[in-house]
Amino acid sequence: MGLDAEAVVALLGAHSVGRVHCSNLVARLYPAVDGGIELAYGAYLRGRCPTAEAREDTRDVAYARNDRATPMVLDNMYHKNLLKGRGLLLVDQRLASDPRTAPFVRRMAADNGYFRETFAAALVRMSENGPLTGGQGEVRKDCRFVNAK
Ligand code: HEM
Repeated sequence: MGLDAEAVVALLGAHSVGRVHCSNLVARLYPAVDGGIELAYGAYLRGRCPTAEAREDTRDVAYARNDRATPMVLDNMYHKNLLKGRGLLLVDQRLASDPRTAPFVRRMAADNGYFRETFAAALVRMSENGPLTGGQGEVRKDCRFVNAK
């Protein structure tokens, strides 16, 4: 959709706030903790999501935070965490290892002002990218699938 690597690294910085349900996490925790995850962070995540079964449980409300230091602040703690192996989702952690995105992760981790400026510009660009409004598109009930007719 016309966003470059720098914009993607900035936008994913939104994961600096909020949480992830265990159903979206257990595949990285069981039977073994994903090797990309820092040891202490892996222990924290297993504490939050103590069983692999969370995946099957639709009532699952267990969750883990991406940014435990400043969970309610949109800041570059997310990027700092990625450099320490504390990426919650695979899509998060891979930003720090992929050569296309890693330089931006490092720069944003070092400079919150640069993160904020890039995030704001990328969000505006996304909003100008011809989003469908009114009856033109659909709001998905499950974001992974087009709604059933
Ligand atoms: C490759 C792109 C992305 C993927 C695969 C992705 C995936 C996810 C997943 C799986 C969750 C956890 C949902 C749950 O377990 O309840 C999540 C949460 C969240 N995402 Fe993303 N995301 C992406 C991009 C973005 C972008 C671009 C933004 C905003 C600019 C964003 C903002 C958020 C926020 C704020 C939460 C936390 C929601 C809450 O705590 O209720 N994400 N994302």
